Amino acid sequence: MSDGSALFSDGKAYERLMGRWSQAVGTQFLDWLALPKGLRWLDVGCGNGAFTETLIAHAAPGEVSGIDPSEGQLSYARTRPGAKLAQFRVAGAQDLPFTDHSFDVAIMALVITFVPDPLKAVREMARVVRPGGTVATYMWDIPGGGLPLEPVHVAMKTVGISAPMPAGVESSRQDSMRALWEKAGLQSIETRVIRIQVAYSGFDDFWESNSVPVGPVGKAFSEMSPAVKEQVKTQLRKQLPAGPDGRIVYAAYANAVKGRVPG
Ligand SMILES: C[S@@+](CC[C@H](N)C(=O)[O-])C[C@H]1O[C@@H](n2cnc3c(N)ncnc32)[C@H](O)[C@@H]1O
Repeated sequence: MSDGSALFSDGKAYERLMGRWSQAVGTQFLDWLALPKGLRWLDVGCGNGAFTETLIAHAAPGEVSGIDPSEGQLSYARTRPGAKLAQFRVAGAQDLPFTDHSFDVAIMALVITFVPDPLKAVREMARVVRPGGTVATYMWDIPGGGLPLEPVHVAMKTVGISAPMPAGVESSRQDSMRALWEKAGLQSIETRVIRIQVAYSGFDDFWESNSVPVGPVGKAFSEMSPAVKEQVKTQLRKQLPAGPDGRIVYAAYANAVKGRVPG
């Protein structure tokens, strides 16, 4: 598959790896959007429903549709008690299966770097949102070191392996996001950085959460020899900022952009 959906086939493993951090960013993102209750929302690349659940809890939407190319992610999303309001279906961001102006808001949470043609996706979001509605996204600042998996990237580089990057890593930059929103014809564009703390109870929690075969890093681990994997693990033990109680806590940060559909 040419998009990133094949990397995300296990909704349960995704939850521990990334879903909880997406929800932490998502809460601040929704506060920043500051939109009224009762709106029609589209969650593009909704995956296992991590952000969808946060959206329903914090923004009191009237309707929610979630689309994702990965059925493995969607089947987990459908089991979430907090996402019962949402309608989930298999689809890709570049060809949204909705008529023009069907929604008040369309968002993409941690998706933009996995979409082969992000401008096409943003134009699609603008097409399905009514004039005056909102199109927005957030993505870890990967080039700036904001990814929760950044310590794994650093450890890999230290032992001489190049860290795996999604193909569209450039679109996680704030200036790239702004340029995409401008090219898609959106107005009143604003950007911001959203910071969170990621925390693990200890090294085993960190390792088990981040070495699952989900996402670019998990795929790299699954293709590594056991000896090289052990080298990365040893490097991580040295490098991670563990407190006296063994807890590992550090900052992660995402870039976000929002704009209004003209009219
Ligand atoms: C890091 S996950 C984010 C999931 C969820 N939005 C969240 O906040 O946790 C990236 C998601 O993008 C989806 N994806 C990959 N390529 C896509 C595309 N072309 N269109 C829509 N979604 C895509 C993957 O299947 C995966 O579920």
